[in-house]
Amino acid sequence: MELLRFSVFCCGAVLFGIVLLPVETNTSAIPVRQLCRFCDLRATNCPGRGVCKVECDITAICPEYNEVCVSIWRKKDDNITFETVCHDPALPLYGLYLDDYNNTKCIMKEKKAKDSKFFICSCSNEEECNDHIIFNLIFTFALPDYIFAFQVGPVIVVSLVPLLVIAIFVITSFYCYRVCNQQPNPRKPLDNTDKHPIIDPEGSDSSSTHANNLNHNTELLPIELDVLVGKGRFAEVYKAKLKQGSSVREEHGFETVAVKIFQFEEYASWKNEKDIFSDADLRHENVLHFLTAEERKGQRQYWLITAYHPLGNLQEFLTNHIISWQDLWLLGSSLARVVAHLHSDRTSCGRCKVPIAHRDIKSSNILVKKDMTCCLCDFGLALRLDNSLSVDELANSGQVGTARYMAPEVLESRINLENIESFKQADVYSMALVLWEIISRCSAIGEVKEYKPPFGNLREHPCVESMKDSVLRDRGRPEIPNSWTSHAGIQMVCGSIEECWDHDPEARLTAHCIAERFDDVEYLDKLSDCSDSEEKMLEEIIVVDEK
Ligand code: ADE
Repeated sequence: MELLRFSVFCCGAVLFGIVLLPVETNTSAIPVRQLCRFCDLRATNCPGRGVCKVECDITAICPEYNEVCVSIWRKKDDNITFETVCHDPALPLYGLYLDDYNNTKCIMKEKKAKDSKFFICSCSNEEECNDHIIFNLIFTFALPDYIFAFQVGPVIVVSLVPLLVIAIFVITSFYCYRVCNQQPNPRKPLDNTDKHPIIDPEGSDSSSTHANNLNHNTELLPIELDVLVGKGRFAEVYKAKLKQGSSVREEHGFETVAVKIFQFEEYASWKNEKDIFSDADLRHENVLHFLTAEERKGQRQYWLITAYHPLGNLQEFLTNHIISWQDLWLLGSSLARVVAHLHSDRTSCGRCKVPIAHRDIKSSNILVKKDMTCCLCDFGLALRLDNSLSVDELANSGQVGTARYMAPEVLESRINLENIESFKQADVYSMALVLWEIISRCSAIGEVKEYKPPFGNLREHPCVESMKDSVLRDRGRPEIPNSWTSHAGIQMVCGSIEECWDHDPEARLTAHCIAERFDDVEYLDKLSDCSDSEEKMLEEIIVVDEK
């Protein structure tokens, strides 16, 4: 609509320029006394349309220097007159001030009159300029020694209409093209959909993910750090409060946030995570909601400010909780969905996006949301799998991540760097280990042992060499006891896990495929729920009948 208004304005401006400017050009002072038609009142046949010549054959030099030529056309009943006079524009004439006397042509304007039709025009700097009278919108050409005027207003309007239509069409098409192909601007402030608080005063985290960067200026958010909630290789994470008066708190509803603090030396890690978060296509309900990145130069620190999830990370959660099949399904399916989203080259709307490999998927890099779904975090090692990957980036891509969760090809640095699918396949391997951890703490498997990480027999932080022994030399994988597969849903997940941690990266399933399998299980689940309740209803009916 704005574009339409703009187009109309432009065309209007063109029209205005063509039609009016040529007659409004002379604004110079009046150096000599004017030569004007000066017949006072005369009857005329001029119909008050088009161009007329006043029927006056008297030309007079105006008595005063500052006087201009004036013509007045009046129609009262059938009586039509022209009045031609000299007049000083500083003084009113019939109660009106002349406002067009700098024109070289006399262009009639209709004025309000009690009981007659009343047109008036004034002009100067042209001899007898009040002799040729122009009514309506008139286009004039000033030729060397005469004025040729004709009525082209309607012609211009008619000829401009197609131009106008074409202009509107072109601008609208261009606009639509831009809108449809627009890459979301990663620096764009939160839109309305982002206004929902992810941490409301009660600690709800219903809308938890939108990659965004709120802090466009260098002003730092007023934040009060609270307790340490996480410690990683490159940074520490604090629970924190946004102080009152902060725009992020007031406008976007964030009160409690998480602050990931990198020391000065870890700039590269902060920068990488910030850049990954700044890609608006990362947005997903199961990706940690990013608020802003800050350089706290005074403290020699770099900060990332994100949503806070009070249930903590998945490893801590599984250590302290036994989960139901329903929770397993929520955690597992959301994990598969978010990894599939990262790996995908399309957004959920079908627009192109750069696939991302996380490269450090593990249970301590997954937060648990209050709706029992996963929230993927820690993108410090993530890699955008686009054509702009430099040789350096690729060369440094051979072995990154946490040894315990490294795929065999990553452990032996034999990942195929030329194929971006390789990075996704390595992520899928790590995801399989996390799915295994989730199942290991689900009540539906029977006896649930205390939480142990995958390859839990190894020391707390196994090194690459000991992982190589287990995963490569012994082809070892976490154990899946037979008892786990007595539940149909878990049986499916276990089958999928085994396909995801295959030694051959190419043989692994995709995250998308796992997400679909979870959906299929949900469907089966609902069917079995239905048949269970139908069975119950049947039993009840039979009991009632027997009575
Ligand atoms: N640990 C690491 N990041 C966290 C976050 N955003 N919320 C809660 N705990 C965390």
